[in-house]
Amino acid sequence: MKILGIETSCDETSAAVVLSDGRNFEVKSNIVSSQIKIHAKYGGVVPEVAARIHVEAILPVVEAALGKDGAKKIDAVAVAAGPGLITSLLVGNEVARILSYLWKKPLIGVNHMEAHIYANWLLNQKINFPVLCLVVSGGHTELILMRGHGKYEVIGETRDDAAGECFDKTAKILGLGYPGGPAIAAEAAKFTVQSSWFIEKLPRPMMATPDFDFSFSGLKTAVLYAARDLKNKYKMEEIIPAMAYEIQEAIVDVLIAKTMKAAKKYNVKTVMLAGGVSANKRLRERFVEAMKKELPGVEWSVPPFEYCTDNAAMVAAAGYFHAAKKDFTSWQKLKVDPNWEL
Ligand code: KG4
Ligand code: ZN
Repeated sequence: MKILGIETSCDETSAAVVLSDGRNFEVKSNIVSSQIKIHAKYGGVVPEVAARIHVEAILPVVEAALGKDGAKKIDAVAVAAGPGLITSLLVGNEVARILSYLWKKPLIGVNHMEAHIYANWLLNQKINFPVLCLVVSGGHTELILMRGHGKYEVIGETRDDAAGECFDKTAKILGLGYPGGPAIAAEAAKFTVQSSWFIEKLPRPMMATPDFDFSFSGLKTAVLYAARDLKNKYKMEEIIPAMAYEIQEAIVDVLIAKTMKAAKKYNVKTVMLAGGVSANKRLRERFVEAMKKELPGVEWSVPPFEYCTDNAAMVAAAGYFHAAKKDFTSWQKLKVDPNWEL
């Protein structure tokens, strides 16, 4: 089955063609047009601006993804229908509806978080259920238990800010650019524990609580107060790498501790990462280390970098599993839902 995927939930306009027989996924194309440079000027995504840029970008992006074969042999169109920014979502969804109508091909509305999870299937490694997935993005931090395809149980989630949001907001406090995740990671990489004369210890919120929930707003406030105090004593550029390092360690410590605890409790066969924050090198390293040490024998999966942040190949992969069950919608019925929860 050959699926055209479309993704416009936030600030990336993306289209992909993915071929699959259910065992192997072949990404024929995955075109991502990022708006990051434009939103960086404002320090975050401006929804109205994002939607206008999606309108300009979407058809060239779809055309590039289809390549010289055009619409030939496309079996279905899958589109991320939520959660996300409503006006951004509408652009991708209108294009998907029109293509489905013109090509007379089935349409699939995919949940954006489900698509992040299915980025793991693009690796073509056999994935055994039950699966535990840590989904960490700009708007979500969730531990999701999957007992089969399309079966999601949220066993823990953030009570306030998402992990990505914490990276973005603390980066803003330190005067680093948007998006904050890669900016914090780059500064943290400059820091070496041995050579440091300074480190401000930050809290690890909810790390030891018996549930599987998260909270990151306290960490953000701690960074705000620490930066305010330290600014009077040191030059910001002197303390930023150490602060960035400690922010990253604090977020990663909490994410890993809760993920390992949940994996043990639910006795899962596979543990995976998903979402934009899973592009973080330190999180990936610490996850693999913890899996080998604490859960030998349990399989693990980490999506390739290009499929961690928003892209349409992951939407097509999730779409494949709906299509295999003939779980389609019609262009008349497809609705976007900016608050769609798994
Ligand atoms: O999944 P995603 O691309 O969009 C949403 O669905 O939200 O995730 C974006 C989030 C942003 O908060 C961004 O700062 C974070 O992922 N991110 C990272 C890294 N790359 C992106 N966080 C930490 N380290 C990274 N390397
Ligand atoms: Zn996303």
